[in-house]
Amino acid sequence: MDKKISELKKIVATSDQIVAFTGAGFSAESGISTFRGTGGLWSKYDPNIYANINIFMQDSTYYWNFFRDERYPVIKKAKPNDGHYALVELEKRGKIYRVITQNIDGLHQEAGQSDVIELHGSTRKTNCLSCGKTYTIDETYKLLQKELPPKCSCGGNLKPGTVLFGEPLPQVALDMASLASKNCDLFLVLGSSLVVYPAASMPMIAKKSGAALVIVNIDPTPMDDIADLIFRESASKVLSKLI
Ligand code: APR
Repeated sequence: MDKKISELKKIVATSDQIVAFTGAGFSAESGISTFRGTGGLWSKYDPNIYANINIFMQDSTYYWNFFRDERYPVIKKAKPNDGHYALVELEKRGKIYRVITQNIDGLHQEAGQSDVIELHGSTRKTNCLSCGKTYTIDETYKLLQKELPPKCSCGGNLKPGTVLFGEPLPQVALDMASLASKNCDLFLVLGSSLVVYPAASMPMIAKKSGAALVIVNIDPTPMDDIADLIFRESASKVLSKLI
């Protein structure tokens, strides 16, 4: 590992437009389970039922049960880990161009990262489909104690701020992430299986635009063959050694 860390240090030393691209593996050490790989959430909950926009629009109780029993308690307890703080330190050193995250937990912002693109939305906000009113994650949870599915004060149905399968990604986030991937000089993948598109197209965009590609992921990914450097290690450990 140390030889590769010094290689990574050399690449980082000559980069000042780094894009950090984080997935569920980056928050795993904050206690939030990943979706795939051993013990992944999708091995317990079928995402086509529990996190699919079409099912949600027909019967949102699947999602809201999943949110109430599985997601809220874990996300509520989660705190940023050393990996989140290492990225904030890299930002302080003027190295970070953008953080693009697929995570919906808001931990990058909680750690103090200033420029985060949330490709898959955020669980911190819930919106009313009728009047557009926004509720925090705690307010949503309180409404859930009263009734399932939770209703807005106007009587409308609520929609989580996260992007469900079958839903388009927020266009602004997608455009900003594509631009950042084109303009960066180092694209650092941290804890993602790189199997969900269009998010997973970002590393290829960066590579094609001449950036170095470094993948830090415990399991192999489909982009490993185009990576300049691969770490099969914990992302927070690699970043802490880097810092
Ligand atoms: N350090 C580095 N990698 C890790 C760590 C860790 N501490 N822990 C787990 N991993 C790796 C796993 O090997 C796995 O390949 O993180 C990866 C997490 O992959 P996924 O669970 O597929 O998460 P992600 O890539 O973010 O999924 C993308 O899929 O379900 C949708 O919307 C959801 O945003 C999510 C998207």
